[in-house]
Amino acid sequence: MKKKPYIIANWKMGLDKASVERFFSQLSLSAEELAGVKSVICPSFVFIPMVKSLISERPIGLGAQNLFWENLGAYTGEVSAKQLSDLGCQYVIIGHSERRRIFNEDDATINKKIRLALQHRLQPIVCLGENFEEKEAGLAKKVVEEKIRACFDDIPLVDLKKIIIAYEPAWAISTDPHNPHHESQSPEEAQVTHKYIRKIIADSADPDLAESMSIIYGGSVNPDNIAGFASMDDIDGVLVGSASQQPDSFQKLISAYL
Ligand code: PGA
Repeated sequence: MKKKPYIIANWKMGLDKASVERFFSQLSLSAEELAGVKSVICPSFVFIPMVKSLISERPIGLGAQNLFWENLGAYTGEVSAKQLSDLGCQYVIIGHSERRRIFNEDDATINKKIRLALQHRLQPIVCLGENFEEKEAGLAKKVVEEKIRACFDDIPLVDLKKIIIAYEPAWAISTDPHNPHHESQSPEEAQVTHKYIRKIIADSADPDLAESMSIIYGGSVNPDNIAGFASMDDIDGVLVGSASQQPDSFQKLISAYL
């Protein structure tokens, strides 16, 4: 049976205060419709309390876009898992390709962040995928497997069960200004990689986990192409940047699954 799909909005640094207010004032889907999927909004840190209050009673999850791997201390400019959890976040994006490339995050760092998130009951949305050069060199599968093994190294099965994997080939991300190679990936191509990710999880961790884990897709998903991704057996939802930032297209993404 298909799992309830995730529609995760990665707002990146794309909205200011007025657009956050406008987003919620124009959101017209009913609570019943919203409950047909697992939707999550990940605003910039500074808007987390505001978004929490604007979500109000609606069945929409709240997430952050990043976190630091220590709880408290002298880490200027960083935000911890405990602080996010104190603010009511339930999810956190970890290892986004923009963080890997612009801020040099590696798999060992991502592994530390996953552990801290789990300690504070934040559900990690772990992004991984190949970049353009790796794709061109025919290394996509190898890179995906290495990242899974390194990011989840030594994380107990009970904790792996709480993780959502977001397969995001960096070259397919629409809004990354550092991505000169933008191309989109077809749902059929993405399905092949999702199935492969499930096999890696089955072989390296547990077959039941591989079945139950939500593996979502990200990279230029929009209202025009979402139906294709939604129809694939191994794609359990989407992580969306640009098309999640306007209420109209965000609602269309959700409606595609209803
Ligand atoms: P995009 O971004 O939907 O704008 O391609 C996806 C992401 O970066 O998570």
